[in-house]
Parts: sequence; C-alpha cells; structure tokens
Amino acid sequence: MAANVEEFAQQMKRYITDPAAFVVNVLDAHPDKWQEEALQAIGTKPRISVRSGHGVGKTAFEAWCVSWFLFTRPYPKIPCTAPTQQQLFDILWPEISKWLKRSPLLDELFEWQKTKVTMRAMPERWFATARTASKPENMAGFHEEHLLFICDEASGIDDGIYETIEGALTTSDAKLILCGNPTKNSGVFKRSFFEDRDLYWTKRVSCMDAARVSDEYSQRLIKQYGMDSDVVRVRVLGEFPKAEPDGLIPLELVEAAMMRDAETDVDADVMLDVGADIARFGDDETIIVPRIGSKVLGLFHFTKQDLMTTCGKLLNITKGMMKDYAKPFATIRVDDDGVGGGVTDRLREVILQDGLNIDVVACHNGGRANDKEHYANWVTEQWCGLKQRLVDGDISLPQDDELAAQLSTRKYSVNSRDQIILEDKKSYKKRIHRSPDRADALVLAFANGGETDPGLAALLGGVKLYG
Ligand SMILES: Nc1ncnc2c1ncn2[C@@H]1O[C@H](COP(=O)(O)OP(=O)(O)O)[C@@H](O)[C@H]1O
Ligand SMILES: [Mg+2]
Repeated sequence: MAANVEEFAQQMKRYITDPAAFVVNVLDAHPDKWQEEALQAIGTKPRISVRSGHGVGKTAFEAWCVSWFLFTRPYPKIPCTAPTQQQLFDILWPEISKWLKRSPLLDELFEWQKTKVTMRAMPERWFATARTASKPENMAGFHEEHLLFICDEASGIDDGIYETIEGALTTSDAKLILCGNPTKNSGVFKRSFFEDRDLYWTKRVSCMDAARVSDEYSQRLIKQYGMDSDVVRVRVLGEFPKAEPDGLIPLELVEAAMMRDAETDVDADVMLDVGADIARFGDDETIIVPRIGSKVLGLFHFTKQDLMTTCGKLLNITKGMMKDYAKPFATIRVDDDGVGGGVTDRLREVILQDGLNIDVVACHNGGRANDKEHYANWVTEQWCGLKQRLVDGDISLPQDDELAAQLSTRKYSVNSRDQIILEDKKSYKKRIHRSPDRADALVLAFANGGETDPGLAALLGGVKLYG
C-alpha cells in the first residue's frame, strides 16, 4: 500500500508539467500527434495558440486541459470563453463532461454543472467556469496563482476581452490557450502567429494531416472551390484568408457573422422573413432561409422534391416559425424566374384558401434595381445590401461550409455604365460546378422589394399590414 501511495504521489507530481501523461493515464484518451505536442507545450509554457481547419480536435484538447488543470493545481480557476453561446454551452461544455466521465476518479472529485465544473469538496474556490465573450467584464475578477484561460474559436473574440485576460496573466502559473479557425486577419489571435509570436507556442493543423477529419470533407471543398480559395484556406488548411480577387463579399465578413450571437427580435413590428431558392434541376437543392431581424434562424435544404411538396414544406416551416416566435405576419420571397414561378402561384393559392397572414413576394434577379444608377440589376443590389449588413456587423448566420463558400466566391465587376454587376449564375456555375443556391436564398431572406401578391393587396384594400 505504502508503495502504491508513493507511486501515486510521484505520478501526481509528474502530471503537473506533463499533461500528455495525464490525458493518456487518467482520461484514457489517445491524443493525435498535434494534440500530444500541444499538451507538452502547455505543460511548461504560459501561452499557446492553435489554428486549424474544422474538426481536428481543438475543443477536445481544450477539454483535456481543463481536467488537467483542475486535477493538478490547488484552488485553480479556469475561465473558458467562446464567441457564441452555442460554441460555449453546446460544444465546449459538453466536451468537458464527456472526458471527465471517462475517469471514475475525476467524476467523483468534480461536479459538472451547466456553466461550471467544481471540486465537490470546495466548490467556491476550485472551479472551471463558462463565460460568454459578450463583454470584457465577464472575464474580469480572476487574480489567482493558478489560472488557465481558454478561448475557443479565438478569431471571433474581441480584443477588449483579451485585454481583460491579459491584465490577469500576472502569476507564474497563469496560462492562456487560444484555439480556432483563422477567420480574421486582425486581432489578438492573428497577432499570436505573427507580431506577437515570441509570446506564444504556436501550431497550425491542416485537416489534410488530421486523421479524424474525413478525406471526403477536404477533397470536396478543394475540388469545388480550389486550394487557393479562402474557404479552403480557413476551413481546411488552417490558413488566414487573403480575400478572393474580385470577390464581392470577403470570407472574413461571413465568418464573423457565423460567430456572432444575435437575439431574435421580439419587437412587435419586426416580422418573419423567409427566402426561398427553388431547385431547378435534379441535383440542385431547394433552400429555405428564415430570419427575424438580424438573426437567421436556420438553413433548410432538400433535393428532388416535386413543387407541391416544396410548397408544403415552405409553408410548414414558415407557419412553424411564426408560431414559435409569436410573429403574426410573414413574408416569403421566392426567386420567381423559372421553376420558382410555379411555387409562387401555388403558395398564393393555398394562402388565400387558408386565410394565412403570409405575403408571397415574387423576385426577379434580372429585374431593375431600386437604385438604377449604381446597380446593374436587382440581384446585384440585394447582394450589395447583404454585404453592407455584414460590414455593419449586426447580423448572425448559421455555421455552414457551403453557405460560407458560396457567399465568398461570387465575383462582381463594373460595367460600361459604371454600375456594379454581380457575376451571373451561369458563369458562377461554370466556374464552381454548383448552383449558388444557399447564398441566393439567404440574399432573398434579407431582400427589399419584389412583387407583392396582387390578390392579397386587393384583399387588404390598400391597407398595409406590414413592411
Ligand atoms: N484524440 C481524440 N480521441 C478521441 N476523440 C477525439 C480526439 N480528438 C478529438 N476527438 C473528438 O472528435 C470530435 C471533433 O473534435 P473537436 O475537438 O470538436 O474538433 P475542433 O474543435 O477542432 O473542430 C469531437 O467529438 C471530439 O471529442
Ligand atoms: Mg471546436
């Protein structure tokens, strides 16, 4: 027994600076090569920064570090943060629970709660805590000897938050871990690999070298958008974006919107807007994008459905969202050219029959812009409108590879009349080999104008319900 206690004490001592051994022996995990290197680094160094494509195991690595620090330090504090509630509470926090449960010993010592993990015997003084990166105060007030800050999806965290963290990194056992996709070309995360790299141990991990990311994922994005495209750089290779030549919307703006929390607007006069891009051919997708104010609520996609089924789905999604968010009125914008025209007609028919409070607005991409001086057609104007909202930084988009890719690879040019003109769908499809349907549906969800249902307008006798 004495020998065992002695041995255990030796092990414990070793774990203080050897998290890799802790992860293998106590959590029963098998770190990938880069994870092992990063574990070794955090064992002895104060700051590490890891950039990579999707799914290489960053969040798992952070979760291991949380357990390690809790287990090997007296009275540790571990503030963890991420740009969105989803990333923090639905991804990082459950990952910590997943690994803690792997060890009966840790499971007994620590209690996992929704926003905290505490030492059962000393919950007030020995804990990890989840704090959203919405305001610097959330990260304030930690001045401990054993302090570990964890920043997941670090590109999306504002510099103000980092300033607060910086102020607390004063003791010899204060550490900082930054992990994320390199989505933004400025800020603390970017600088950790360049100007400030002497302060950090750094690592780049490409999905192509990561055993746990399927080859199919990387190859699909590379084949479609090219090795040089920003979407492949950021989401596969772990490289910072460099902005596509002639691209209308830089990926950086899109990624920022995908890492932003926006509340759904409960304001009585903000209604539900739905954009729908209807599939034309066998392999194209029908896309439905609902949004309320600045928040896009989801992205629904399906293929190979007849138009009646598509109408049914579109109405069900719209009615469901109106109910869920207590919105008495909705607008559906449909790309009315081609096959979409049939959907517009059928939707209007059902809406009239059932007396629904939904306006179906028929949109024509090639139609005239409201501002004819600057935009060659309606669709260009709408894309530019969406770009402006992304620049203003007030909208939140769902995480989606294809949406990010389509938004950031559409080109534009200036015509002989000095108007901006968006690359037409045909040229885009020739270049990328797929329809920009997800982006188009999103643009429709944010669009202004189009033809309102004449039937509905007549019925209302000029009374404007909404808009
Ligand atoms: N070494 C590992 N052993 C087992 N599972 C792992 C390992 N590394 C990561 N995972 C799992 O792989 C999935 C993706 O990893 P994650 O950490 O979420 O990637 P990232 O944060 O880089 O996108 C998660 O379910 C995670 O638990
Ligand atoms: Mg992650």
